[in-house]
Amino acid sequence: MNNCFEIENITVAWDRANPVIRSMNLTCEKHSDLSIIGESGSGKTTLAQVICGMLKPVCGNIKVLGTPIYEVNQKEVIKLKSRFQMIFQDPLASFDPSIKMKYSLTEPLLIHKIQVNHEETLDSVLETVKLSKEILNKYPSQLSGGQRQRASIARALITNPEFIIADEPTSALDVSLQGHIIQLLDSLRDRITMMFITHDLALISHVSTYSAVIFQGYIMEYCHTKDLITNPLHPYTKDLFDAFVHKKKGLSPDKTVPPGKCPWINRCRQRMDTCDKEGIPELKDIDGRMVRCYLAGR
Ligand SMILES: Nc1ncnc2c1ncn2[C@@H]1O[C@H](COP(=O)(O)OP(=O)(O)OP(=O)(O)O)[C@@H](O)[C@H]1O
Ligand code: SF4
Ligand SMILES: [Mg+2]
Repeated sequence: MNNCFEIENITVAWDRANPVIRSMNLTCEKHSDLSIIGESGSGKTTLAQVICGMLKPVCGNIKVLGTPIYEVNQKEVIKLKSRFQMIFQDPLASFDPSIKMKYSLTEPLLIHKIQVNHEETLDSVLETVKLSKEILNKYPSQLSGGQRQRASIARALITNPEFIIADEPTSALDVSLQGHIIQLLDSLRDRITMMFITHDLALISHVSTYSAVIFQGYIMEYCHTKDLITNPLHPYTKDLFDAFVHKKKGLSPDKTVPPGKCPWINRCRQRMDTCDKEGIPELKDIDGRMVRCYLAGR
């Protein structure tokens, strides 16, 4: 099995009237790291939760490491989950404040009944993430932001996973610490496939082979990261890069989009008559790049 996950035509909704992920198809092959890019509220964390077995899609199929995660029994889910891990957006909130780090870090070995020497495995992951053993007797609140993020990476590594989803792993850190965490994640890419969720477009070239740009739960563009950076094709991707380069505030979601129309229609600088007449454009393959826009391929 060569895919970390395969998503086929899934729709996900917290509230059934307003899907957050819409008819999405996406595959992440092993050793082909993937970035998910999109502004706040576009559905990135929701997508991660679906892949991690935390939120069942309303419809569609999903396989994680070859297993249909929502169709197998709990025992199989626990076994499967030891093979992939998530690094959460807020490292402080992801640790139990009343439990010392030693237990928090080794807990996944107990949950997944992994038969290894706990002390040796812990020493090894602490060395990988460059954390001193002194943190083991501390509570999460007693760690610095950088230490906490390294600890959350250590916890993700302790089960020796094949696949890690890192949800904005640097957003809670000072700029000075962000580079160290990116270097650390980058150093793991030889042995672990990463799905990297980020707002920070400067990071994607460091961490991923492919990138998917999502907006209002739709994939707008999906391609090789280097193509996306050098030549974004979708008008939304272009505006996203433009806002990033010029340090503009986020492109806030437009709630007034007419139903069944291109989600970017009201703010698109390249809007045409076709966009008003037709429904939501399909994600089309243009020379190996997937683009959801009527301009694509013209
Ligand atoms: N637990 C929840 N219950 C209800 N709605 C939710 C829940 N979590 C997220 N949502 C809604 O789903 C939509 C997508 O949220 P999500 O957290 O996936 O966005 P995101 O792209 O990760 O944003 P950010 O970049 O701010 O982290 C938003 O409209 C959000 O309000
Ligand atoms: S389909 Fe039309 S409105 Fe939508 S992004 Fe493309 S050109 Fe703009
Ligand atoms: Mg999020």
